[in-house]
Formats: sequence, C-alpha cells, structure tokens
Amino acid sequence: MITGIGLDIVELSRIQRLDVKSAKFRERVLTQSEHAEYIQLTAARKVEFLAGRFAAKEAFSKAKGTGIGGACSFQDIEIRKDSKGKPSVYFQNKETGLVSITHSKEFAAAQVLLQTN
Ligand SMILES: CC(C)(COP(=O)(O)OP(=O)(O)OC[C@H]1O[C@@H](n2cnc3c(N)ncnc32)[C@H](O)[C@@H]1OP(=O)(O)O)[C@@H](O)C(=O)NCCC(=O)NCCS
Repeated sequence: MITGIGLDIVELSRIQRLDVKSAKFRERVLTQSEHAEYIQLTAARKVEFLAGRFAAKEAFSKAKGTGIGGACSFQDIEIRKDSKGKPSVYFQNKETGLVSITHSKEFAAAQVLLQTN
C-alpha cells in the first residue's frame, strides 16, 4: 500500500550560493558517506549532487508528512546508490522508500514514494 508521496524542486543557483558561502550548508544536508561522494566530484557535479540530495530529503520529509525538523532531520535521511547508479532512500539507516532524482541546467527535483507491504 502506498502511504506517502513527496515532490521537491530546487534552483541550482540557490544551492550553489549556499555551498560557496561556507561548508555549513552541505555539512547540514549531507551525511558523512554522501559527503565522501560529494568531495570526489567536479565543481559542476557537486552542485547537482548537493541540490539533488537536498530535493530528495525535502521530498522524503513531505512523503512522511513531517517536513524537515526534529522528527526527520537531513542527517536522518541518506540517499544510497546501487552499482548501476539507482538511488534508494534510507531513514535512520533503514531502506524506507523509493526515490527518483533529476537535474537540468537550472533545477534539481526529486520524487519519493513510501509504501508498506
Ligand atoms: C515541508 C518542507 C520540506 C516544504 O518545503 P518548502 O521548500 O518550504 O516548500 P515547497 O514549495 O517545496 O513545498 C510547499 C508544499 O509542501 C507541502 N507541505 C508543507 N508541509 C508539509 C508536510 N508536513 N508534509 C507534507 N507536505 C507538506 C504543502 O503542500 C506546501 O504547499 P502549499 O503550502 O501550497 O500547500 C519544509 O517546510 C521544510 O521542512 N523545509 C526544511 C527547511 C530547511 O531546513 N531548509 C534548509 C535551508 S538552509
């Protein structure tokens, strides 16, 4: 049964501004292992990657119905990829839903679907 859906879109220019200003934004949004992926990317891919994770985490918080906050922080949510690059969403280390991420020149967007068996 589908229990939640969430959708989010962000402007790459906004994420780039925040990321250039200081490391604080990416440290708040990315988990340690996501950050390890981030630092290996080119500058352009860094913005896409960070914006995609930000959108995916906001979309997840909408699917859950909580928004980002005490019950569901950016650090509680992790996007992991399989060997082919397909992302999955983990909440507090448990696989908790389906996610799809996209980016264009100006935007990144993500959709999350939560379901129970
Ligand atoms: C829920 C949340 C993710 C919404 O994101 P947003 O960027 O403010 O706004 P969006 O335009 O993407 O989404 C707005 C829609 O989210 C939906 N929404 C709001 N609260 C929601 C909730 N608890 N559950 C599900 N959906 C929710 C609403 O439909 C809203 O549209 P509406 O007001 O027209 O009905 C947001 O409130 C939140 O928790 N943001 C985290 C903020 C943060 O820490 N930012 C870091 C920046 S440094």
